[in-house]
Amino acid sequence: MTHDLRAKNLTLGYSDVDIVRDLDVVIPDGRITVIVGANACGKSTLLRGLARLLRPRSGQVILDGTSVHDLKSVEVAKVLGLLPQSPVAPDGITVGDLVGRGRYPHQGWFRQWSSEDDRAVAAALEATGTADLADRNIAELSGGQRQRVWVAMALAQDTDLLLLDEPTTFLDINHQVELLDLLTDLNRESGKTIVIVLHDLNLACRYADHIIAMKQGAILAEGPPIDVIDSAVVTEVFGLACEVVPDPVSGTPMIVPRGRHHAARETVSAAS
Ligand SMILES: Nc1ncnc2c1ncn2[C@@H]1O[C@H](COP(=O)(O)OP(=O)(O)OP(=O)(O)O)[C@@H](O)[C@H]1O
Ligand SMILES: [Mg+2]
Repeated sequence: MTHDLRAKNLTLGYSDVDIVRDLDVVIPDGRITVIVGANACGKSTLLRGLARLLRPRSGQVILDGTSVHDLKSVEVAKVLGLLPQSPVAPDGITVGDLVGRGRYPHQGWFRQWSSEDDRAVAAALEATGTADLADRNIAELSGGQRQRVWVAMALAQDTDLLLLDEPTTFLDINHQVELLDLLTDLNRESGKTIVIVLHDLNLACRYADHIIAMKQGAILAEGPPIDVIDSAVVTEVFGLACEVVPDPVSGTPMIVPRGRHHAARETVSAAS
């Protein structure tokens, strides 16, 4: 099913500080969008705004033609799922119960827990490799195990739009790639629209159909990574001197930081 998620002149903030300022964005339907940017530039704030968790100061977020604040939260939750950056689990909850909570938006007065819910939870546990943890208490898990369980909960919600805020921070490199491959499978096979905040620029460039580079609450550049990411943009966004070379596996941009202690290689080899 196709959806239209966009923000118009969106300003978001906390107390008296504006963080996201007058931002316009259209989330490409049925594609994978990756948001990158320096710490505190407003990525999580934007995601929360898109998911209706923050009320705009001005402007609006529009889902399928309606301002999200004119929709009930449960209506939004049937279409759009958000995995926050630092989700908090209820005390003492097991993995299976937490993932089951992803099904809440699908229940109601007349619709109790069903075999469809069972199937969705089992599939989410299976896809994230957490089925063998189902009876464990969330508090007992490692950081990476816990993060995969949260992803399972988001998957169990089974929404057409899925927003994930740094879902790979605690994962080892193999699990990072597995998770991004899994999200790509979901995108390709079920046509889900996926928006991910990522700090790994190389993985961002590989997996994004559309990349959004943010700086100080605004979009500095967006488009296909190959068109958008070069050393000038990385320097502008992160203040980092770097080389950008083709990723030997995917051909997408690969960022090689210079740093202060490793910039002399060309000089040394030129002198020898
Ligand atoms: N609940 C809040 N109350 C007040 N200020 C907040 C709140 N959440 C975030 N901020 C501030 O808003 C700014 C943007 O924060 P945000 O979490 O959107 O950044 P981010 O781009 O996601 O950064 P990171 O890469 O570190 O996750 C920061 O200066 C932060 O301190
Ligand atoms: Mg964040």
